[in-house]
Parts: sequence; C-alpha cells; structure tokens
Amino acid sequence: MPSDDDLIALDRRHVWRPYTSSEDHEGKPLFVVERAEGPWLIGSDGRRVLDASGSWWCNNLGHGHPRLRGAIARQAEQLMHCTFAAATHEPAARLAAELAEVAPEGLSRAFYSDNGSTSVEVALKMAFQYWQQNGEPRRTRFIALPGGYHGDTFGAMSAGAVDEFTAVFRPLLFDVERPTGPIDHEWEPVFGDLFAMLRNRGDEIAAVIVEPVVQGAAGMRMYPPGMLAALSRETEQAGALLIADEVFTGFGRTGPMWACEHAAVSPDLLCTAKGLSGGMLPFAATLATERVYDGFRGDKSRALMHGHTFCGNPLGAAVAREVLAIYRDDDILLGARAKSAEVATAIMAMTNIPGVTHPRALGMCAAFDVGAGGYMGKVGWEISEVAFELGAHLRPLGNTVYIVPPLNVEDDDLDRLLQIVRESTERVLLSAK
Ligand SMILES: Cc1ncc(COP(=O)(O)O)c(C=O)c1O
Repeated sequence: MPSDDDLIALDRRHVWRPYTSSEDHEGKPLFVVERAEGPWLIGSDGRRVLDASGSWWCNNLGHGHPRLRGAIARQAEQLMHCTFAAATHEPAARLAAELAEVAPEGLSRAFYSDNGSTSVEVALKMAFQYWQQNGEPRRTRFIALPGGYHGDTFGAMSAGAVDEFTAVFRPLLFDVERPTGPIDHEWEPVFGDLFAMLRNRGDEIAAVIVEPVVQGAAGMRMYPPGMLAALSRETEQAGALLIADEVFTGFGRTGPMWACEHAAVSPDLLCTAKGLSGGMLPFAATLATERVYDGFRGDKSRALMHGHTFCGNPLGAAVAREVLAIYRDDDILLGARAKSAEVATAIMAMTNIPGVTHPRALGMCAAFDVGAGGYMGKVGWEISEVAFELGAHLRPLGNTVYIVPPLNVEDDDLDRLLQIVRESTERVLLSAK
C-alpha cells in the first residue's frame, strides 16, 4: 500500500487541482482521505476530521450512508449505464415522477445531466430556445443577481457574478443584466433596481436566474424570502421565465426541501444537483413546467438541442431515488429542524468574539464574516488551519467562514463541530488583538 508521502508526491506531480494555483498545489499541505463515514473524513493514519463544508456542499446525508451504498451496489449489478436516446430504464423514469411529486408546484418534467453547472446550462438554453421558437424571439437576454454563482461552464459563468471566478473570462461571456450591490447586506435597493429592469425592458428578457434566498459562493449571503416572492411576481408580469438555481439550496439545506418554499414560489425551471445524489455521484436535473416542455413540440428542429453522454445515468438515478426514500422514511427535514436551531444559536453567539460580523443561519447552513476582503480575504484561511488541527475540514470563502453539516448529523458530532468553529475563530481573532 502506498504511503501518504507517495500519494502526495504523485498528486503534486500529475494532478491539476481545482481553484488552486500550481504553486499552491505544489506547496500547500494535502490531506489524504482514505475513507469517510457520516460527517467524518478519515485519513490513512486513522485521523478523523469533521467535513464542515460537506465536500463542496453536497454531502447532505453523511458519507457512506448504508442505504445509498446499497442502492448503488444493487443498481451496479443490473445496469450501470446505457444510452438515453430513444431508450429508458426504471431508475430514470421513476425518479422523474418522484421528483415531480416533491418539486414546487408545476415542475413535472426532468431533464437529466451530470453536475450543477450543466443543470444551469440546460435551464438557460431551455429558456432561450423556448422564446426563439414560440413567437417572442426578442426575448434573448437574462437578468441575474449581483454575486450570483451558477457554476463554471460558460453559460453558468455568464449568469454568475463572483468576479474572482469569472473575471479572466469576461470577454468570452455573454452579457447578462444585473443590478449592483448589496452594500452591507442591504438587499432592498438591489431588488428595486432589478424590478425596474424588468419593468423597463421586460419584453427582451428570456429569464431571470437566481439562487433562491441563499447565495452560496458569494459568501453564504442571505436575502429575505419576501424579495424572492416579489421577484417571482415581477418576473411573471414581465412575461419572462424564472429559473431557480437550487443546486446548493435544494434537498433541505435551508430548511424546507427547496429554498423557493420559503417564499411559496414555483419557478418555471429549477436546477438541482449536489444533494440530489446525496453527494455520492455526479448527477443533476433541470426541472421544467409542462408549459416550457410544450414549447418544444413539433419536428426535430424544435427539440432542445442539448444532451450528455451520461444523461439519466442509472447509477445516479438509482441513488437519487434512494435519497428521496430516506428523506421520506427518516423525515430528514423534520430531524434537521432541531439541529438547525442549535446551529443558529451557536453561530449568532459568535458575535461576542471581536472581529466576527454578520452571523447568519438558515436551516443547516450558517456563516459569519471575519473581516473585509471577501473571497480573497486571508483570515478565514487562518481559522481553517487551526480548525483542521482541532479536527474539522473547514473551507472558508475567504473571510466568510461557514458550515454545512449533514442534515442527519449526530448531536455529539454537531456539538463538536460548533465547538471547533468557535475555538478556532477565537484563537485566530483574539491572538490578532
Ligand atoms: C448555486 C450553484 N449553482 C451551480 C453550481 C455548480 O455546480 P457544480 O459544481 O456541480 O458544477 C454550484 C456549485 O457550487 C452552486 O452552488
């Protein structure tokens, strides 16, 4: 068995790491994970570290959930992959029907893809093509929120506005309208500007795309659900489509199954990934209404011009069905409610540490800031280093520190995580005084 040193050397020599400069990749410490269970990542030396960022926000039911492992194993015996062109199979067909049951009202169609970014690309293309072939070809533009993040492919980057991720590609991205702000988490003027855009140029807008209620990569920014409800009304009045990117917020991360439910909003298109497969496999879906689906009737030239090799992958679909079954059988959302109250209390109490600002929590998602500088801030990373020593893999968004534990995390593990967040933050901020 290769040692950690061998693996790290191979990684440094041959891997290209996401969001990491080549220099950092060659110089910064690497944690070699051998296995994982529940909220724990376990190294080859047996070291156990709490996965505070949910392995990039997808690990909603903990690592290695026995029912999910079982579903994958059973499906693997039968059918791991096959074409989705003029063919179907039980996992994909049943999952589409089951998603329609739990989705916000009216979203009765599922288009499958394989990650959050592609689910967004699909939604953007659906919205654009819909208007091109349904009598309103003037609707070619999109509106998005400042600070939105929708993924790293070109359409998703165009809709997104986290400059640190997209600035270098700006010349290649299509133009999307978006208001500026918010200043100091003040959202009212932002939505006011957005509504003015819809009122003035609504007939040119194909769709408005938003992360409902929580903007993840922008720094776990939260805006009042009432604003989402107003946005939904304004979008409808402008005759445009509403795309809810629930890649991060879906599957109960913010409390209800979908963040749209905070505002009783039913979008025209909804993107889901990450928690859809319990964070086990690359699998995604774009949900659509019958109205949008009907816009693609006719001959071949009117078909949605999009598809992926692994569209509807049986393993992904089977595990997603099991995820839904676990949510039903174990009432995951109800169980998370008490835990989220504990998370909120602990995170709000962080304000008594000088240097902590804007504590915020919604469901099993909580964050606070530790200085200016946003994504490029360094204090969050100092806290992350201390947290790792104390036993938590905490990946900040620069100077925003956040946690997204599994919805079914055991109480003891959650207590430990909250303790580590507090202790690591105190150690860094109080020693800076
Ligand atoms: C809201 C949102 N949309 C889209 C994506 C992109 O998903 P993926 O990384 O699976 O492509 C993310 C990823 O963090 C996200 O948070």
